Amino acid sequence: MHLFSTIAEVRNFSEKVKVSGKSIGFVPTMGALHDGHIELVKKAKAENVVVICSIFVNPTQFDNAEDLKKYPRTLEADCELLRSANCDAVFAPSAEEMYEEMPRLAFDFGNLETVMEGKFRKGHFNGVGIVVGKLFNIVSPHKAYFGKKDLQQVAVVKRLVKDLNFGLEIIPCETIRETDGLAMSSRNRRLSTQGREQAFNVYLSLKIAQEALKMGSTVVHAKAEVERHFKNLPQFAIEYFEIVDFETFEPITLFNPDRQTAICTANYLEGVRLIDNIVF
Ligand code: PAF
Repeated sequence: MHLFSTIAEVRNFSEKVKVSGKSIGFVPTMGALHDGHIELVKKAKAENVVVICSIFVNPTQFDNAEDLKKYPRTLEADCELLRSANCDAVFAPSAEEMYEEMPRLAFDFGNLETVMEGKFRKGHFNGVGIVVGKLFNIVSPHKAYFGKKDLQQVAVVKRLVKDLNFGLEIIPCETIRETDGLAMSSRNRRLSTQGREQAFNVYLSLKIAQEALKMGSTVVHAKAEVERHFKNLPQFAIEYFEIVDFETFEPITLFNPDRQTAICTANYLEGVRLIDNIVF
């Protein structure tokens, strides 16, 4: 497995692969890899000849300096995992390599920036748009793989690809969960043993609301059920819990079983921000 730290090296590698007529699958990550990432790599490997994974903790997408500082950085262990998943090349640049100067580019992703992740993480999607756009230009893949745990991010990236005519396909991949339902995330490792044991409540809250809706409850009632659940769990602090239309991401007032609905949440436990969603 190749390990590249400069744009020139990975670009050269990608060009050679393409000249030889082989397809490239790309998995962009911020490292601290877990089985969820490895599933993306495996899927990319099943659908392409060559897989490139990037590991870059992107400063422009953090609205909170402390969160950026605390983001786990585990390059050696990540490379071990990627090697065993048959990844062909890793691109792990420094911040200076990626940003010679801080970009002034500003995207407008419409309502994606004003609801849920967009609302609570100001500038986050702009930073995602900038780095993903740069990575697509550098790596030039045929397909790029993203986890559905970051549902709004998938929508933002699709928009970016469409609006800027990146000639590649976005492949959204299912959220990978621990046996108790907790969505796999690099942030989970910041939880204490006790926190980790309780974290499944985030997923459970989505299922509670989903069940309530399926049984005919109103959206207001489904959300009230979730609030009631967390009344006895004061260690959790819900940032948002929204029931939205999957296409528009607009909050709904009435559940329509004929349209796809997404239940999305961000919830703090021990200062760790856990996000999750279900679409049905
Ligand atoms: O989902 C992530 O890990 C990041 O947002 C991404 C897509 C790698 C961009 O930094």
